[in-house]
Amino acid sequence: MNEDFRLLNSDSLSPSHPFWQFTTDTEIEFCLASKDPDGIATTGIVRTYTDSTAFVEMDSPKYTVTGGSDSWDPTQYLNLWVCHLNDGLGLLGYAAFPADLATDPDLDGVVISYTAFGYIGTATAPNDLGRTGTHEVGHWLNLRHIWGDDTCGDDFVADTEIAEAANYGCPTFPHNANSTCGSGVDGEMYMNYMDYVDDACMNMFTYDQGIRMQSALYGDRAGLLTSLGCSAPTGLLNEGSLENGFKIYPNPSNGSFTVDTHMLKYDDISISVYDLLGSKIQKFENIKSFPFKMDLNDLSNGIYYFKINSGNKTITQKVIIAK
Ligand code: ARG
Ligand code: ZN
Ligand code: CA
Repeated sequence: MNEDFRLLNSDSLSPSHPFWQFTTDTEIEFCLASKDPDGIATTGIVRTYTDSTAFVEMDSPKYTVTGGSDSWDPTQYLNLWVCHLNDGLGLLGYAAFPADLATDPDLDGVVISYTAFGYIGTATAPNDLGRTGTHEVGHWLNLRHIWGDDTCGDDFVADTEIAEAANYGCPTFPHNANSTCGSGVDGEMYMNYMDYVDDACMNMFTYDQGIRMQSALYGDRAGLLTSLGCSAPTGLLNEGSLENGFKIYPNPSNGSFTVDTHMLKYDDISISVYDLLGSKIQKFENIKSFPFKMDLNDLSNGIYYFKINSGNKTITQKVIIAK
């Protein structure tokens, strides 16, 4: 997203292309949150186990009670859910517009299918270059589809050429020149992020699209301008951050575990080891530095629980010893 919004994408148009003059650095950038709404250190990523094999109900990923995960204050954060969407809809993603933030704060944000997110892992061709994120966040910053969602419709952006309808796949330039709705000799701007072409064939926002997105940032989304989401965390641990903040590896292990955290501030951390029947086997107290190595080689194979405690907060994680 930073590459695309800052015109650092390696596939941007070359100066000889007639549409090159419209390409723009929108000067909008994104960061993974370093501080959660409670002031606690975070990676900016909340991983949520769900029993839902697919989110069939629209917007169900946005609520913990429906198997998803409640959003963070949408005036301060861009909430972006990655999940398994309803296969039947064939939807890569969807977004909420800035004008709906005040009336439907819980629904604000962007949802993206795990098959169309980023460019590694589960991202699947032809949507494996992260452009669904670019497209949806374009909507989230008030951009409309280039064809105005209508035959020869209006996207309220002056420097995007009028388009008859959505374009798919990978058209060749010029596409639909001198169309019935009046596109010029250079045809439609199908390579715009707000069209529907394949990831590999979209590569630009226009100057006026950039202005429209910036206006959203000075208007309905102005809360982001003073958001502290990307500043240094200040608070102490809460349960949520405990859960996301500790890593135990390897797991399973032969009995030597390392516990690590990215937390910058914590108080009085202890780790108790319990067996499957709930008897406490061992306790490591007053842990001051991480990564912390734990030697449990004397224990026999099986399932154990680590209870990680900080102040009056506790989380429990399952570990397996297999020699
Ligand atoms: N909402 C659109 C869809 O689900 C996203 C299109 C994104 N296009 C892309 N090439 N990644 O179809
Ligand atoms: Zn769209
Ligand atoms: Ca236009």
